[in-house]
Amino acid sequence: MIVTVISKNQQLLDTTCQILTKDNSSPLFLSDTSDKHKVLPVEGDIWKVMSVVEEEKPDLLLFGGMVDDDSELHVLEQVASQFHNLYIVLLTSGMSSEKLMHVMRIGVREVLSASPTKEELIGMVSRFKERMYKTKLPTDHGEVLAFIPCKGGSGATFIATNLAYILAAQENKRVALIDLNLQLGDASLFLSDIKPPSSIADIADQIHRLDSTFLASSMLQILPNLDVLSSPYEPDQATKITPDHISKLIKILVENYDFVILDIGRRMDAVSIRALDKTDFIYPVLQQTLPFVRDAKRLIEALFSLGYSSDKIRLIINRYDKKSEITLDDVSDTLRLKVAASIPNNYLVVEQAVNHGVPVYKFARDSQVSQVLMGIGANICGNKLKKEKVGWFEKMISG
Ligand SMILES: Nc1ncnc2c1ncn2[C@@H]1O[C@H](COP(=O)(O)OP(=O)(O)OP(=O)(O)O)[C@@H](O)[C@H]1O
Ligand SMILES: [Mg+2]
Repeated sequence: MIVTVISKNQQLLDTTCQILTKDNSSPLFLSDTSDKHKVLPVEGDIWKVMSVVEEEKPDLLLFGGMVDDDSELHVLEQVASQFHNLYIVLLTSGMSSEKLMHVMRIGVREVLSASPTKEELIGMVSRFKERMYKTKLPTDHGEVLAFIPCKGGSGATFIATNLAYILAAQENKRVALIDLNLQLGDASLFLSDIKPPSSIADIADQIHRLDSTFLASSMLQILPNLDVLSSPYEPDQATKITPDHISKLIKILVENYDFVILDIGRRMDAVSIRALDKTDFIYPVLQQTLPFVRDAKRLIEALFSLGYSSDKIRLIINRYDKKSEITLDDVSDTLRLKVAASIPNNYLVVEQAVNHGVPVYKFARDSQVSQVLMGIGANICGNKLKKEKVGWFEKMISG
């Protein structure tokens, strides 16, 4: 593991490196001192960061100093987007909460004080090591989950994007979110206000080049373990994307991510049907009013007639209200499917989070809507683990 500490402040470099390598409570203490494991102090300012990272390829970067203007922030943003797995930590002081939010959005993982204490540094390295360990565990095979609104405004995009974030941030899974609302998709906006580097239409244009590296560089990195592939900027580019593109894309994604989350629009066309064919679980999203239930019935009949079995379909009731005239049992009886999850109506929190382009897990973790989504995220991971264990056991038995 390579750790690089960059600062103009020699004293900060000395004390930080001393604590990281010589203090016996540091997780880096006693690490072997071969070239593969080193803590490298570099005297320099923000302009030195990119070249040092390119040369040393560290796993953890600590930058000590101020990042005041946009061009300085841009350096960090570029480093974060080029080096997906780099854990970037800022050692700085006097940052407003707005700026703090901004640096976190562009990919900085932690901000510590300009002269961090031993406890702060050791806590940060422990969190980094835990994340590095968990995110580097080999994936068996990524699970594909598709979210479809039964009717416009059901909340499918809100749920798909926020669950993707929770699976990455809370469950430490590697997650890819693909916006398959090919006309006027908006998924990336639920997580970030940064313009995605390219879209699924650019991938379709260069499908012969498609591999995991090309794909990673086309996606917007929200967290080191969460990437988003956005829908085309121009709706007319949607026609470039064919079902075969979708098959190729999903094949590469499941090899590289634990979860591939698809935000599928309401249009049932050849592209979305191909995506559903590759999906492990389909989550239709509806609300408890007659128009939603009516459209849900049509959608579910269409899914059955396409040959998807009821085990593959998991209903989600969004904006759940226990006082509603239409109960969960009514929905379940009408659609002849169990309700897998219900998400509370929380207008104030959700509206603000969506308007700021921030997931509710980050914006209001204690809110009921965030807590319920966190529970769903934990269940999804628990179920995948159970399936993998059964698969492993069956393989052992069949020799
Ligand atoms: N649980 C909730 N509580 C309160 N408001 C919610 C909730 N879920 C979603 N919303 C609101 O509903 C709006 C529409 O949600 P969203 O865009 O996810 O719907 P959709 O099903 O993807 O619709 P579309 O067909 O337009 O893609 C969101 O902008 C959000 O403000
Ligand atoms: Mg949507």
